[in-house]
Amino acid sequence: MIGALVATALWAMVPAYVPNNAAVLAGGGRPIDGGREWRGARLLGDGKTWRGTAAGTLAGVLVALALNAVNGPASAAVGVSLPAFEPRAALGLALGAMCGDIGASFLKRRSGRERGAAFPGLDQLDFVVGALLAAFVLAPDWTVGVFTLPVLAVVVVATPVLHVVTNVGAYALGLKSEPW
Ligand code: CTP
Ligand code: MG
Repeated sequence: MIGALVATALWAMVPAYVPNNAAVLAGGGRPIDGGREWRGARLLGDGKTWRGTAAGTLAGVLVALALNAVNGPASAAVGVSLPAFEPRAALGLALGAMCGDIGASFLKRRSGRERGAAFPGLDQLDFVVGALLAAFVLAPDWTVGVFTLPVLAVVVVATPVLHVVTNVGAYALGLKSEPW
């Protein structure tokens, strides 16, 4: 029972987990805020770029389509009927994850945190909130059907753990300059 919940929750969130990591690999180039400041601090900062956002969103959508292609065998392997991603849901999860992360940078700059500074709690859940909200807007029936309350509970508990593990890993590999 709990195993089925965890499998469903993690599977459904993969298109939201991939974009931030893809952005780290693809980032660079023109910052979204174009260097503009607001009230003495950058609007978003150099860590939020058009290229990183586009690449992250595309990666999330492509991974969702790839998961759909292996849904049958994967569901059989874990003994759970894993959710298939509607295209609009895939876009919502991926783009929403990127927007949540961008929103967090906006809040970090407003609270005097420089680029790369940690904001515990926000760092781990910003993209979850963004992904779920955008998926709900673009594919409401799908989102409500997949993210039941127990699945949501697993997402909220498991995501910060996964986030910390992947970021420490990316830091250890030299892909990220901070371990958060
Ligand atoms: N990145 C990007 N575009 C995004 C998100 C991330 O280009 N929309 C790239 C940037 O190169 C960024 C790196 O991924 O430096 C790591 O992302 P993140 O930790 O979110 O950014 P920070 O540099 O830590 O900046 P911030 O303090 O604003 O989060
Ligand atoms: Mg960061």
